Amino acid sequence: MFHSLTGALAACLLPNIVSAIGLHEAAVAAGLEFFGSATDNGELTDLPYLAQLSNTSDFGQITPGNSQKWDSTEPSQGTFSFTRGDVIADLAEDNGQLLRCHTLVWHQQLPSWVTSGSWTSATLTAALQNHITNVVTHYKGRCIHWDVVNEALNEDGTYRTNIFYTTIGESYIPIAFAAAAAADPDVKLYYNDYNLEYGGAKAAAARAIVQLIQNAGVKVDGVGFQAHFGVGTVPSRSSLTSVLKSFTALGVEVAYTEADVRIQLPTSATTLAQQATDFRNLVGSCVDTDGCVGFTIWDWTDKYSWVPSTFPGYGAPLPWDENFVKKPAYDGLLAGLGVTVPSPTTTTTATVTSTTSTTTSTSTGAPRWGQCGGNGWTGPTVCSSPWTCTYVNDWYSQCL
Ligand SMILES: *[C@@H]1O[C@H](CO)[C@@H](O)[C@H](O)[C@H]1NC(C)=O
Repeated sequence: MFHSLTGALAACLLPNIVSAIGLHEAAVAAGLEFFGSATDNGELTDLPYLAQLSNTSDFGQITPGNSQKWDSTEPSQGTFSFTRGDVIADLAEDNGQLLRCHTLVWHQQLPSWVTSGSWTSATLTAALQNHITNVVTHYKGRCIHWDVVNEALNEDGTYRTNIFYTTIGESYIPIAFAAAAAADPDVKLYYNDYNLEYGGAKAAAARAIVQLIQNAGVKVDGVGFQAHFGVGTVPSRSSLTSVLKSFTALGVEVAYTEADVRIQLPTSATTLAQQATDFRNLVGSCVDTDGCVGFTIWDWTDKYSWVPSTFPGYGAPLPWDENFVKKPAYDGLLAGLGVTVPSPTTTTTATVTSTTSTTTSTSTGAPRWGQCGGNGWTGPTVCSSPWTCTYVNDWYSQCL
């Protein structure tokens, strides 16, 4: 009697409760610390973009995509520039969002004074330590994580031959972590890389890096799984979970740090549905792993993804399309976070994806989540039933 009453009550209330929840709220309810998005300085002048980036229902954390990298922070030796990185750090603080800091040591986006310098092991070690000390000290107390070393490995698990490895040897890695720990003892220090999710030779080598740092008596707190995928290549949820757990078994936490799932263009209902499944499995494996603390997408809208310029013919890798309309991937993420998505959403988002390319058609009205007004908007101004065109800000009204 009591049980059936509770069940009926839950069945009645739950769809209403869950339909309003955003990605960060769902992540926290599922036991993660955050759901977040990367961003970049150039995008922040796009005010509807900025409004959604600042929406803490979806994003409890932001990560600067480029403005804390070496070429941005120390463009010439000993001259530091934090202006662009500070814009993102200040935005996170103003929004009440966490800040994931990225990245201190990487083989790309290095200024030429680093890549073309004539170094000895001792002089490059000093330059590395000076870089890390200055950047970490500047952001001390503001970051939850630092990606200390990024992408040190080749696919076969050997070390990538970057300037640091060839000049200093593998000890550049514990040296970097030690410098970061000395500059801010409270921030969590991460090793970050891609293609670890498959659990092969590269993942084994990343575990060896964790142990290399630990055996040097130096602090390492986490491993970041970038999770850059092509649609349909994401391993199963249980397989992803096993890989994550092989890292937490070493006493470190893990996080997905740069997730996106690229699709060969044009997209179809099939590839968008597969993308939703891929995102659901990724975030679900984090939920299933004690010690998986968060999930970050590498920006949130297809409009600002790095994919089209890097992978010709591919794009659409994120949960919102170029017009800031939620895709099936958004519901896939919610589902992976344990939220029961009401069925109307699935049907209407499927419609969205086929009609958004012809934005000027107003005959049927904009779909749920679709834009229906705002300064400069030339698309539909009415919504398909049963959604209502709702003012969000001067630049953006949405069918809700
Ligand atoms: C913030 O995000 C949530 C979840 O996507 C959404 O329901 C809400 O409308 C958004 N708020 C604004 C002001 O856009």
